[in-house]
Amino acid sequence: MKLAASLYADPAWLQRVVIRLVTAADLPALEWEGEYVHFRRVYARVFARMQTGQSLMWLAELPGGPALGQVFVQLHSEADPNAADGRRRAYIHAFRVRRALRGRGLGSQLLAHAEADLWARGFREVCLQVADDNPDALRLYQRLGYEIVEPVAGDWTYYDHLGHLQQISEMGWRLLKTLHTAD
Ligand SMILES: CC(C)(COP(=O)(O)OP(=O)(O)OC[C@H]1O[C@@H](n2cnc3c(N)ncnc32)[C@H](O)[C@@H]1OP(=O)(O)O)[C@@H](O)C(=O)NCCC(=O)NCCS
Repeated sequence: MKLAASLYADPAWLQRVVIRLVTAADLPALEWEGEYVHFRRVYARVFARMQTGQSLMWLAELPGGPALGQVFVQLHSEADPNAADGRRRAYIHAFRVRRALRGRGLGSQLLAHAEADLWARGFREVCLQVADDNPDALRLYQRLGYEIVEPVAGDWTYYDHLGHLQQISEMGWRLLKTLHTAD
């Protein structure tokens, strides 16, 4: 489903956005009409982790409409417990908002939702990574209270929808935020 631009001309759309956990039926919609088809297996793996309580996949939408944005939360990482220890610190990733809707507050709303949920689950720190060629996202995170803790090489691999191994290098920063209140 494509975005109908007229639907979002009224600034009140943001108040009507619902943020909810992804279901199996939502997985195709997370591919954004093919833009993120290469992450099909990654999404399936994160969804499987959600079934075992290790991850959360949040989706923003207007009821009945297309996926407008998302943020994933890793609660526990065996590979990198320094990023997500399953108890106090969680890791945010795969954070994105439809291009046409950026800069209107939806990203901030998604992060606030994920953070409030983490607080309710007893988590007190949120960790994430941002590439050094993404100054807009870095500014947003810093405005929301995230602080740079260390540089990261940002090397990771995944299998795309065709089964090809993709190797990514995104030099950047690891950021950390201490949660202080429930809101
Ligand atoms: C990063 C991302 C998810 C942020 O989503 P967003 O919806 O644009 O976020 P917000 O609108 O809440 O905030 C972005 C900016 O818009 C501004 N803004 C917030 N509400 C606004 C509003 N109602 N009207 C105009 N601007 C607004 C914010 O002040 C912020 O500005 P800043 O960069 O100076 O801090 C989005 O830009 C995106 O998908 N980027 C591509 C993927 C990506 O880089 N993800 C992060 C990887 S680490």
